[in-house]
Amino acid sequence: MNQKKGGFLISEKEIKERVKAIADEISRDYNGKNPLLVGILKGAFIFLADLIRELSIDAEVDFLAVSSYGKATETSGEVKILKDLSESIDGKDVIIVEDIVDTGLTLKYLYELLKTRNPNSLKICVFLDKKERRVVEVPVHYVGFEVPDLFLVGYGLDFAEKYRQLKYIRELTPEEVKNV
Ligand code: IMP
Repeated sequence: MNQKKGGFLISEKEIKERVKAIADEISRDYNGKNPLLVGILKGAFIFLADLIRELSIDAEVDFLAVSSYGKATETSGEVKILKDLSESIDGKDVIIVEDIVDTGLTLKYLYELLKTRNPNSLKICVFLDKKERRVVEVPVHYVGFEVPDLFLVGYGLDFAEKYRQLKYIRELTPEEVKNV
């Protein structure tokens, strides 16, 4: 199986603690409400699954699938909706749940798109934030970890559809990039 290698790492324990802390914050902020968590597929499915189980309030779930980088590690800046939400978000308290914000192009596009659908409120929750890479401003309300400009895999994040199953986050090695 995938062994841990040297380099940047966020451990399973650190992830668990941080996810619980974000869930506590959301539970406080949305006390008495029933927010709709909109997971961005595929990367956010593990984060969302862990997050919702740590909430102390009721929450609904829906998913949006968007096009990814494919086998490249750089974004094209183009966002394509592959699967739209299954229900209207009119009047709902929506939280977009995403694995990572990098340039911000994906989330900016999705934030503006969902805003046009008349939610009661709209916030963004990301597991990882590569702040130094930001190209467009995007309002991120909940952040798991700020991370350096490295290509990271695990906990739902992939490289060419691999490594999503890792329970921790780690840096992709140059050999792994070559061996696609
Ligand atoms: P953005 O539009 O540049 O902010 O890119 C966001 C998307 O790029 C994320 O949803 C990921 O799918 C992908 N992405 C960005 N950085 C990484 C990374 O380090 N590992 C895996 N996927 C990444």
